Amino acid sequence: MRNEPPPLPASLQDHYEWLLARAAAPPSRLLDIGAGQGRLLGLARELVRERLVGIDPKHPAGRPDHPIARVIGDGQRLPFADDTFDFVVETETLEWVRDPVALLREAARVCTPRGRVVSDDTDWDTLVFAGGDGTLGRRILRAFCDSGPNGWIGRTTPSLMRRAGLRSIEVNVRVIAEHELKPGTLGYWQIQVIDEWLRAKALATAQELDDWRADLHQATDRGDFLFSANRYVCVGRP
Ligand SMILES: C[S@@+](CC[C@H](N)C(=O)[O-])C[C@H]1O[C@@H](n2cnc3c(N)ncnc32)[C@H](O)[C@@H]1O
Repeated sequence: MRNEPPPLPASLQDHYEWLLARAAAPPSRLLDIGAGQGRLLGLARELVRERLVGIDPKHPAGRPDHPIARVIGDGQRLPFADDTFDFVVETETLEWVRDPVALLREAARVCTPRGRVVSDDTDWDTLVFAGGDGTLGRRILRAFCDSGPNGWIGRTTPSLMRRAGLRSIEVNVRVIAEHELKPGTLGYWQIQVIDEWLRAKALATAQELDDWRADLHQATDRGDFLFSANRYVCVGRP
């Protein structure tokens, strides 16, 4: 079905559940900035009682009967009144916006005084794929980290939140880890993203990328594979 997001990898579902539990109390009005395919929103449906909204400049076309409000818009200029939501979250969106502090300032503005603003971003320099060929693996991951909009976004989120005026900032570094490489896992999907990104930018040859993938699959066959990524989750108060 074209408009359904792909199934959530189990490791990411655990992470999102932990993240949603950062609310001071079960949230009744949640905003996801840069909601993308709505994976977090889909999970939050069970939890949020009153209002669930995603905003993104490029939502996939929604189904007319979709229960979650999808707003087309810019997280740096939110089309909502002050104090509209009690849980405002962004996951992996900060590095894609021109002014991440403006996005976080807007998140704080639309959040009620007792609510929480949560940012959740991967630091791309912390990706680990355990295979046999360390030299090739290191080269590929460094090229990916250094060619993105901001490979170190994760480690900068605490200071971005402070600059946006958020208070009582709690900094958590969470490790997402998987030990099998198979379809439906976050690591499997991440390898595809890295492969497509580096091919499109001609930052690795097709041969290097094929060798890297083969090496990681061999590591899985030997029982040696591991994927991990550090996500920086900051929780602040407006
Ligand atoms: C890497 S995706 C993350 C999607 C989703 N939050 C997730 O974790 O799966 C980044 C998202 O940020 C959105 N985005 C880019 N610029 C934005 C902006 N100015 N305001 C809000 N969202 C934006 C993109 O359209 C994209 O859906």
